[in-house]
Parts: sequence; C-alpha cells; structure tokens
Amino acid sequence: MNVQWYPGHMAKAKRMMQENIKLIDVVIELVDARIPLSSKNPDIDNLANNKSRVILLNKYDMADPTYNDMWKRYFDDKGYHTALVNSKSGQGVKQIKDIVYKACEAKIERDRKRGIINRPVRAMVVGIPNVGKSTFINSFVGRASTKTGNRPGVTKGKQWIRLSSKIELLDTPGILWPKFEDPKAGLKLALIGSINDNIIQMTELALELILFLSKHYPNAITDRYQIQVPDNINEIKDTVTTLENIAIKRGCLLKGGEADLEKAALILLDEFRNNRLGQISLEIPS
Ligand code: G4P
Repeated sequence: MNVQWYPGHMAKAKRMMQENIKLIDVVIELVDARIPLSSKNPDIDNLANNKSRVILLNKYDMADPTYNDMWKRYFDDKGYHTALVNSKSGQGVKQIKDIVYKACEAKIERDRKRGIINRPVRAMVVGIPNVGKSTFINSFVGRASTKTGNRPGVTKGKQWIRLSSKIELLDTPGILWPKFEDPKAGLKLALIGSINDNIIQMTELALELILFLSKHYPNAITDRYQIQVPDNINEIKDTVTTLENIAIKRGCLLKGGEADLEKAALILLDEFRNNRLGQISLEIPS
C-alpha cells in the first residue's frame, strides 16, 4: 500500500516555519511515541541547524511501555534532549521547562560571555498535523503565563507567551509536513489516523494492521475479538480470513450473509486508534 499526501497548505507551512525559526533559540519537536521515526520530519534537521533541540515523545500513553523507554534512549543517544509526554493528561509536561532550559545551556553561556544576561530563551513547538501540538501547548502553558504581546521590529505580528522569567514560547506551533518517500511511513501515519481517511482504502489499511499485529502483538486481535489468528501471517488470504472473522464476530454482514469487510475494517481501525487493542507501537527501535 502506497500512501502519498502533500496538501497545498504544507508549502505555506514550510515558508512560515522558515520565517519563525529565525526568531527562536530552541525547537521543541513533537513526535508520536507509536511511530517516532515516521512522525518525524527529516527536513527539520536542516531548518533547525544551529538551534537547540528537544524531542518529545507525545501520546506515550498510547504506545507500548517497553518501547517508550527504548525510544527515549535512542533519541538521547543522538544528542537530543528527550522526554515522554502525555499532553492530554499533562503527565510528563511539568519537567519540560527544565529540559528546554537545559538544552539551551551552551547558548546561555555564550550570551553570558558576551555580557547578555537574563535574556529569556525563545522556543517554538513544531510537529506534523495531529501529533498533539495544540494540546501540548495548552498543557505546557497552563494558567501561570502571560502573553507578552507584539514586539517591535523582528517579531512584528508574533505573540510570545512568557512561561517564566527564563522561557518564552511562540504561541503558534510550526506545522511540519510528513515525509512520504518511505511508503511504510505513509502507511503508519494512516494507521494512527494522521492522514485524512477519505483518501485511504480502509480495508487495505486494516489488512496491513492485521499483518503487523500477527507478527508483533499476536494476542491483540485474539483477546479483543475472541477469534483465532494464525501467528506471523505471511499470506494475504490469512489477513482477509481474519478480517472476515472479525466481521462475523461483530455482526457485520451484507445481504446474503457475506462478511462486510469494509465495516469490519472501520471497526478494527477505530478500536486500534482508541487503544482498545492495547498500547501498541508500530515502530520498534533497532
Ligand atoms: P495538532 O495541534 O498537532 O494538530 O494536534 P492536537 O493538539 O489537535 O491533538 C490531536 C489529537 O491528539 C487530539 O484528539 C488530542 O486530544 C490528542 N492528543 C494530544 N496529545 C495526546 C496525548 O499525549 N495522549 C493522547 N492519548 N491523546 C493526545 P482529538 O480526538 O482530535 O480530540 P479530543 O477528542 O481528544 O478532544
């Protein structure tokens, strides 16, 4: 399955990003903890060249706890300042101010040597659509902040939120565009619901999910739907049979009694996206 998707507004988002990034010291990049690589935009490495970097593995409550810690180590080892965050409940958000400040230590020291002291570091939240940027900003900002309003000169038209005497945050997040050169990345983004479902063949997507689950989470479907699933499915016919069995179990039948695969696909994907099949990571660190 090959998913290609690059709406026109992404080009505009890129221009905005290039403009805003000049104004900040540190990039707070949100990725989805279930697919940290596929939800990460590689272009940001060029755009954010010379900036301090923080990576937040957001929605970690939805991902497999075993892999969450491994992914954190993976990004730590690459030199990012990293944290696991659940923006929806606020878990892990409190520590982010310290992490952001720590990420900027070298810059603060350089400033200090040049006689610039007590200048707040300026941060921006970035990430692909639906990764949780707005939810994170709301949780991060909380009530204890004040908007600093427009500033003359370079920051004309921009709103900064003062988080403390040390940190200011640009109030609008930077929207990144996913990379689709790797068809697997498009597939995983579609599975977690980050791509408009209208452009996607849902039945095909559900069959891909069954294939993945049978390899990595063999009990997930059996436990949820009380049906037998062959381990490590290799053949497409076995995925179709599994989807048929889900359809029958859930009473999704067409006139004539045939299994309604499309309906079963929607149920499976919806339940997967709502964690009814458990905390599942679609990417596993090597
Ligand atoms: P965006 O600005 O990057 O586009 O994303 P946004 O904050 O709108 O979040 C997209 C969806 O992800 C929202 O769900 C939001 O509640 C959910 N979300 C964000 N962070 C987390 C997290 O850490 N854990 C979990 N479980 N969910 C998170 P929604 O269904 O669109 O809205 P709602 O029904 O939750 O209000």
